[in-house]
Amino acid sequence: MKPKVYSTYSIPEHVKEFMTDYCDIIEWRGDGRTPRDVLLAEIADVKGLYTGGSSMVGRIDEELLNHAPHLKVISNVSVGYNNFDVEVMKKRNVIGTNTPHVLDETVADLAFALILATARRITELDRFIKDGSWKPTTNYHEIYGKDVHSTTLGIIGMGRIGEAIARRAKFGFNMDVLYYNRNRKPEAEEKYGAEYCDLTSLLTRSDYIVLMTPLTPETFQIIGEKEFKMMKKSAVFINVSRGQTVDEQALIRALQNGEIYGAGLDVFETEPVNPHNPLLQMSNVVAVPHIGSATARTEAAMAMRAAENLVAVLRGKEPIDPVIK
Ligand code: DGY
Repeated sequence: MKPKVYSTYSIPEHVKEFMTDYCDIIEWRGDGRTPRDVLLAEIADVKGLYTGGSSMVGRIDEELLNHAPHLKVISNVSVGYNNFDVEVMKKRNVIGTNTPHVLDETVADLAFALILATARRITELDRFIKDGSWKPTTNYHEIYGKDVHSTTLGIIGMGRIGEAIARRAKFGFNMDVLYYNRNRKPEAEEKYGAEYCDLTSLLTRSDYIVLMTPLTPETFQIIGEKEFKMMKKSAVFINVSRGQTVDEQALIRALQNGEIYGAGLDVFETEPVNPHNPLLQMSNVVAVPHIGSATARTEAAMAMRAAENLVAVLRGKEPIDPVIK
């Protein structure tokens, strides 16, 4: 008998074809992801769970593991794995995997899209032109934006995606790159002229600040009131990591008080974001619904990589991307 696997969303056909040789799959067929109560009821006899990284429905905690006594592997179709309670999973000998590498360039593209859109007020001016506000009398000074090229970019979290952003900044936009990271990245320093600095120095010197760090207890609300106050009034803040790496109320206040120029946000403290969140009412905020890796090609590659990780464990082999062994 093949081991049973539960997937919290519909798996692409080409990936399912590969997986079905090794396991029987039960898939959530409804909208979005499996509701938590359904998930808990479905996993009593599964060996594998195929799920997504940022959905709190898929939070892998004691409660979930209590409902899944046979679980061997949880394969996240995402690079982030802050939905894992690492300690509990270790205790239960449940292996956790993620999907690094295959999404690096796509997420870096989105970070740059947010930089450009916020600096040049693309979404605001898109609305402006579509609602007929562009008139012969339009005062052009009022629709000026900010240059991106030849400015300074600060990257908080210089992992693979951070490096892909640095490459775009250096070679595409002639920017000076500063970075703050747990450890120094001599290669990135050499390749992109990136300067390692402490957080204060990065925040005070950067024109654009990209938050790209994984969410961990150390990075929870790493950017808050004090940090926003350190930024230039002309700074643009971009978050492509996780919403909880920022104190969202402090971000709202910083924008309301004109402490920074604008923000480009892919992630929010609560997702889906509350439609009444003040950030969504601000013309100097560009907001997108957590689409860092959301291109058809990259999502397909992530789905396959997650499947390979899951199948490897079910077959008693080492997964390619273990985050918890
Ligand atoms: C991930 O995979 O963790 C990212 O959030 C992609 O957007």
